[in-house]
Amino acid sequence: MSKPYIRIFDTTLRDGEQSPGATMTSVEKLEVARALARLGVDVMEAGFPAASPDDLEAVRRIAIEVGNSTDGSRVPVICGLARATKNDIDRAWEAVQYAAHPRIHTFLATSEIHMAYKLKMTREQVLERVRDMVSYARSLCEDVEYSPEDAGRSDPEFLYRILEVAIQSGATTLNIPDTVGYTLPAEFGALIAGIIQHVPGIEKCVVSVHCHNDLGLATANTLAGIQAGARQAEVTINGIGERAGNTALEEVVMALATRQDGFEMETGIDTTQITRVSKLVSNYTSIVVQPNKAIVGANAFAHEAGIHQDGMLKNNQTYEIMRPEMVGATHSKLVLGKHSGRHALKARLVSLGYGLQEGEMDQIFERFKALADQKKVITDADLEALISDELYQPRELFVLDGLQVACGTMGMPTATIRLRDPAGGMHVQASVGTGPVDATYKAIDAIIQAPSTLQEFVIHAVTEGIDALGEVTVRIKGENPSRVLAAQSEIDQPRTFGGYGADTDIIVASAKAYLAALNKMLVALGQYGPVEETSVQTVINQ
Ligand code: KIV
Ligand code: ZN
Repeated sequence: MSKPYIRIFDTTLRDGEQSPGATMTSVEKLEVARALARLGVDVMEAGFPAASPDDLEAVRRIAIEVGNSTDGSRVPVICGLARATKNDIDRAWEAVQYAAHPRIHTFLATSEIHMAYKLKMTREQVLERVRDMVSYARSLCEDVEYSPEDAGRSDPEFLYRILEVAIQSGATTLNIPDTVGYTLPAEFGALIAGIIQHVPGIEKCVVSVHCHNDLGLATANTLAGIQAGARQAEVTINGIGERAGNTALEEVVMALATRQDGFEMETGIDTTQITRVSKLVSNYTSIVVQPNKAIVGANAFAHEAGIHQDGMLKNNQTYEIMRPEMVGATHSKLVLGKHSGRHALKARLVSLGYGLQEGEMDQIFERFKALADQKKVITDADLEALISDELYQPRELFVLDGLQVACGTMGMPTATIRLRDPAGGMHVQASVGTGPVDATYKAIDAIIQAPSTLQEFVIHAVTEGIDALGEVTVRIKGENPSRVLAAQSEIDQPRTFGGYGADTDIIVASAKAYLAALNKMLVALGQYGPVEETSVQTVINQ
């Protein structure tokens, strides 16, 4: 008998992108979507098309380019989120209809607190709206998902009624969100079991779970929901998402794979892709993965204590419940030196999944040669950092053209910087600061004059060794509010933006990361016209 199949619904590009600072450019979103397809997700929530014309366009491009197969291989369902309004549903359909398998996901809250304060609607009005909007979505699209937002704090009897109405109106998936991460695993499992037992017609639908991590219970709640009969798990890469985040894809998938004795269920995920996708999402969102994060943290497979190391040498199962190779956590070493050719580099990049266009290959080859002059061994991690730094950047309005710093114990740290502005003009500025990075950032601020506050600055080495590439991730908060979509309306709010930079010189990497974040912010504020971005093609399905 075949094992029950758990559909993996990835919402990194929608709920994940709602994390502060996680805003991605449309090229980055497309690249993440390709990586998610390669990972084998069943459904990809590509965004919230009604949020803005840019969001709609990003979902449309993903539907066209990732939601269709050129070689007969399996492609994911491409889903767009919509509030329970005609306009949102129309926008979602406008974006996803180009996919081979489109889905509209609509939601309306069902907890007393959300209905009374946020929606200002009665139970009857909520029921009617769900009936109308699910039917409307179904008139456009065969595949419709409905979520009673804040289901975790809703009255179960009311939930049963509303889910029944959603089924009668044509919903094909019923998603049960613990929107505020409030429930406990036994409670959430019982809620799912109750729904499966009491909602008439539920056997015609897929029951899904969507948990948030406010109490650190998202994975436990998701697994409890699956044990109670849910057959779709809504997750994000690295668990990114609103507040404390969503359930982490890698945790659910590896729990199901590692504890087959308890679950006896399967997913369609190629687990060996997990580490790479995690890194890609971390770079693009500028959300650094904590070192002790399960499955994808830098220390997830590290053994420090002598007793543990001794045990590992004797039998790795003494302290290791999964092999790092299972999640693609071992980086092979590509030993190429300055005499190595383009072909070897290109072949390695293709085997890593990158199919670069000629101009992009020239850029990467030049950076590779420069790095090979400084470093003896270049790993896959180095190559990925070079690609992120060189190609996956927001539209470059201000470009770093030169940087020199003087620092140490003898005087005031000083940075002199040269930037090229969007019109091609050169600006040179020198500043002093508390350290070389501070001096550099002050010089950049003096040229660009876009008010923002630095919220986070993280630096780390890509590989071990003194010659390693340094990666810098920064997060800035703009001081000029921009228009953002709140749950039911639009509000003005300062937004955060992330930036990434890599270089063997950590001050240069720091300058690049800060400029990347400022460039994203300036584009979002619409000060420099529409975003024109170049695209990097990733080879899919190899
Ligand atoms: O957490 C939540 O309730 C959501 C819904 C839109 C599904 O993200
Ligand atoms: Zn959510």
